[in-house]
Amino acid sequence: MKYVLAPLAGFTDAPFRRLCRDGGADLAYTEMVSAAAIAHGHAATRQLLETLPGEGPLACQIFGATESDVACAARFVSSWPVPWAALDLNAGCPMQKVTRAGAGAKLVEDPEKIHRLLAAMAENTALPVTLKTRLGPHPRQTNIFEILDAAERAGAAGITVHARYTSQLHGGETHLDTLAEVVRRAKIPVTGNGSVKDAASAAAMAATGVSAVMIGRAALANPYIFAALKGAPVRRTPDEMFRAHLDYILDYRPELAVLKLRTHLFRYFSGRPGAAALRARLNGVKSLAELAAWTGPNPLDAPTGDVI
Ligand SMILES: Cc1cc2nc3c(=O)[nH]c(=O)nc-3n(C[C@H](O)[C@H](O)[C@H](O)COP(=O)(O)O)c2cc1C
Repeated sequence: MKYVLAPLAGFTDAPFRRLCRDGGADLAYTEMVSAAAIAHGHAATRQLLETLPGEGPLACQIFGATESDVACAARFVSSWPVPWAALDLNAGCPMQKVTRAGAGAKLVEDPEKIHRLLAAMAENTALPVTLKTRLGPHPRQTNIFEILDAAERAGAAGITVHARYTSQLHGGETHLDTLAEVVRRAKIPVTGNGSVKDAASAAAMAATGVSAVMIGRAALANPYIFAALKGAPVRRTPDEMFRAHLDYILDYRPELAVLKLRTHLFRYFSGRPGAAALRARLNGVKSLAELAAWTGPNPLDAPTGDVI
């Protein structure tokens, strides 16, 4: 089975992706990038397309609502000096600032619009074009079969299905029976996604017949989950994960290290004894010099090194 790191806005930046690849991820995605922002040449957006040298297979995910924006983004991303594995369209993000503009999960309501957007992307790139979507807007409207058909007609090379409805946001049960039916009908590879966090949930997802399993939130807590699910666990204590992540952040953009420290690094210790003290210490870090001199999160009891 292939294991894929999900796109997670605000988290799946280059250093975190590198850590997940150490931890066995076969494919990763950029955070979602606004096609409109690319089309309008916003410089800050380019940072989302940055990679670390030698990154493994990486798909670029865009979100957009108009054919002209996604076509323009497809041309721009294709010209970017990264050997992208795919160009992916987000048709699943439920955040209001995305859906209000007609993008993300708003598209789940309109399979024909998904078709037009994917076709516009495919016309403007030689990269494989893929889709990440949901089962439908709500359980009374299961649009995924129309969406699958729309994607296949547009020439999509694959589809990722988060086995939930938009109305569920990121919680509630996953609908693996419906996902299995998608797999049965699909002519293109299907990647399954939704609350895979351990061997049992990965096995349940695999039983639907998907070609790959995508993992999001569970990788935030444990970037080595992929290797563990493959039966080849990489043993790292939270302390070692923290150090490796910090080193990758420092390699990538030292000037962002202090900021990233706060968004990423204290997750490794949440719920452990001494976590509050560690958090306070991390929040107090003001400079790169202090970071470089970091001697390990010693307020904690000895971690177990368990990876799942
Ligand atoms: C903080 C956060 C950010 C996310 N950002 C994106 C995104 O940029 N693009 C996307 O397609 N999905 C995004 N998602 C959805 C995830 O990719 C994934 O579909 C969802 O979390 C379910 O998988 P999981 O249960 O393994 O986390 C995000 C989810 C979370 C919690």
